[in-house]
Amino acid sequence: MTQDPIELTRGLLETTAVLRNGFLDVLGESTASPAPTFAQRAMNSPFVATVYERLWRPTSFYVASGVTARAERRRAASALRLATASRLLDVACGPGNFTGPLASELPDGGLAVGFDISEPMLTRAVLDNGGARTCYVRGDARTLPFADETFDAVCCFGALYLMPEPFLVAHEMVRVLAPGGRIAVLTSYAAGPPPLRHVLTGGAHLIGLTMFDRHAFVDLFSSAGLVDVEQQTQRALQFIVATKPG
Ligand SMILES: C[S@@+](CC[C@H](N)C(=O)[O-])C[C@H]1O[C@@H](n2cnc3c(N)ncnc32)[C@H](O)[C@@H]1O
Repeated sequence: MTQDPIELTRGLLETTAVLRNGFLDVLGESTASPAPTFAQRAMNSPFVATVYERLWRPTSFYVASGVTARAERRRAASALRLATASRLLDVACGPGNFTGPLASELPDGGLAVGFDISEPMLTRAVLDNGGARTCYVRGDARTLPFADETFDAVCCFGALYLMPEPFLVAHEMVRVLAPGGRIAVLTSYAAGPPPLRHVLTGGAHLIGLTMFDRHAFVDLFSSAGLVDVEQQTQRALQFIVATKPG
């Protein structure tokens, strides 16, 4: 018999959670999220949450990378080796635009947990990308509420550049990754010659976005002991994938 994904996920959480609007909330009754920058405030807006998956995301990421949403999903499923994974954690999942489709790539009995801090995004995720293998959790990615080595695939797409402590979040992702598991990140890339790069980096900073160089996450994953670290750069985005040794 298939187990309820909410109860399965509750069993993985290291802290108590209330069920609200179809997602588990480890931040308690408070619906406020830290939103000190323009970019973070946008992610807490019900309007942005509504138009994000069909309009905002495909348009802005295609312009930034030249890669379509469908190609991104194929790349993610393959990089994370979902055909042989049983538990996926999608950090900063937004409206579940990767969580839902990636859940369907897991074998029978698989579980995909989408994790985000924004209540409007998670409300959309439950409505648009729910399913028998999917559960959504509201929390802060700086302290993932899961034990070490819980998931055999962990990803974070289109979000680390919004966060005030992206490297702390990346270390948390490595911590909850099981030996032999795969981790994948899609984030910003400060491309181009120095003058242009500095203008773009400064402009992004004004709205609360960080532009990372090509070494930032490659070095972090290598220093954390991960192997098979691979990187693709496409215009203003970079995709990095790595394995935790078994
Ligand atoms: C642009 S969306 C990315 C959604 C999806 N992963 C994608 O690739 O389209 C960024 C998400 O990061 C979330 N986020 C920002 N800071 C966070 C934090 N500290 N913990 C969890 N989620 C966070 C926002 O709420 C937002 O939903």
